[in-house]
Amino acid sequence: MATDAAEIGELRGMAVSLAREAGAMILAVAEAGVQDIRFKGDGRRDLVTEADKRSEAYIVEAITRRYPDHRILAEEGTGTGGSGPYRWIIDPLDGTTNFAHNYPLYCVSIAVERDGETLAGVVFAPYMRELFAATRGGGATLNDRPIAVSATTDLMGGLLCTGFPYRLDGPTNNLGNWSNFVLRTQATRRDGAAALDLCYVGAGRFDGFWEFSLSPWDMAAGALVVQEAGGRVSTPAGDPYAVDGRDIVASNGHLHPAMLDVLAIGRNGHGTTGPVSGEAKSNAQEAASHQPSAVSETEGATEPPSPS
Ligand code: IPD
Ligand code: CA
Ligand code: CA
Repeated sequence: MATDAAEIGELRGMAVSLAREAGAMILAVAEAGVQDIRFKGDGRRDLVTEADKRSEAYIVEAITRRYPDHRILAEEGTGTGGSGPYRWIIDPLDGTTNFAHNYPLYCVSIAVERDGETLAGVVFAPYMRELFAATRGGGATLNDRPIAVSATTDLMGGLLCTGFPYRLDGPTNNLGNWSNFVLRTQATRRDGAAALDLCYVGAGRFDGFWEFSLSPWDMAAGALVVQEAGGRVSTPAGDPYAVDGRDIVASNGHLHPAMLDVLAIGRNGHGTTGPVSGEAKSNAQEAASHQPSAVSETEGATEPPSPS
């Protein structure tokens, strides 16, 4: 019987091949011009294209052929059930809105778990030619080179990222948190591909990421990349991350407590609040020590908005 390491290596290899092949297919569609954009549900935000479906069909067919007893959870619904210990979790094209607009941040995300524990995760961004991979206990890589989370220790020195759900009329539309983080970080981004956003935390490009209302295929591979790169993942309340949960906070570890504190502002019903004045002052001083030319003298003195 194969050793655990050999088995995990084989699963990783399969995920890498499939992500690269599906990614090449997606990139070819992007280069030819994405034609067939449709809406999921009744809104105009949640898109699906023929490339999403072709990518999923290709990946699911290959896994089923090689591992007929493995279960598959795939976003476009062509996965397979069963009761075996192995489950593949697939986002055939994460960042479909970006893809539809020819904005290059999109990827294929593939994870495989055994008895609920993620063993390997692979995220391939074909336009960027970047392949992130991680195996449990084996570290994380970008194009086969080891990666590690950043060393940033203060929020005001941090570059964070988040995302927004397609339905913005619910209580977790994240708009209050967005303001709260923008007011307390060097910069906060919305890049539009959650799996890739997580990998960017693993690579030390982002110092932290949070999002609500995600699905397992958005998080499974990227969360392992963060963990194996030395970072931390949890729920916004600080409870252990679960792939079948909806909400995630990922960070370099150092910023985790501060991120949870900011998220608690929104959760406690205070809406958008600026930093208290002492906090703003120390944040500005801290930022100045990192990038003197980038922070104006008046920035730290800006009046915070009144709490609602
Ligand atoms: C979406 C992206 C986006 C996130 C959405 C996801 P999709 O996935 O990851 O960044 O904000 O919540 O649904 O639809 O492009 O696969
Ligand atoms: Ca997705
Ligand atoms: Ca998708």
